[in-house]
Amino acid sequence: MLNTVAIILSSLAILLIFAGLAVARRPKRHVPLMYAAFAVDMIALAIVELAPLFQGDVDPVSGLAREFEWAKTIHATLATIAVIAYIVQIVNGRRILRGERQFLPRHKRWAKIFLVFRLLAYGTMFTV
Ligand code: HEM
Repeated sequence: MLNTVAIILSSLAILLIFAGLAVARRPKRHVPLMYAAFAVDMIALAIVELAPLFQGDVDPVSGLAREFEWAKTIHATLATIAVIAYIVQIVNGRRILRGERQFLPRHKRWAKIFLVFRLLAYGTMFTV
């Protein structure tokens, strides 16, 4: 059940990311779509990480210390890098919106990093 919710929300986030990328040159559409993807992803992350704790099951993805599993470690690492890249994109995106267009090349570079890690995290979600 928990996994189904996480898969649905993550898939929705991926769709929002691609929709946002398709309109990357139109900030009025691009920005809300990317923020929506971020929000959906963070809700999915919170559900996956916190719900098992409330249910008394102490083995969420981050329960790495209890029982080492390569699949969980790899997925958690990729997902963490994706979250960092999200934050970098938000910070630089806000700078561009303020008129500091010199941050656009950096925003584009990090877009590639973000996409690679977000898609890898999505793929490895099915291995945990
Ligand atoms: C992970 C999330 C994001 C990705 C992958 C991403 C990706 C991109 C890409 C590839 C472009 C370049 C479009 C082009 O000129 O070819 C772009 C432009 C831009 N992005 Fe993002 N973006 C993200 C999030 C955000 C956020 C959160 C903001 C604002 C807070 C933002 C603001 C902008 C702005 C203002 C532009 C310039 C649009 C223009 O005037 O040409 N982006 N983004």
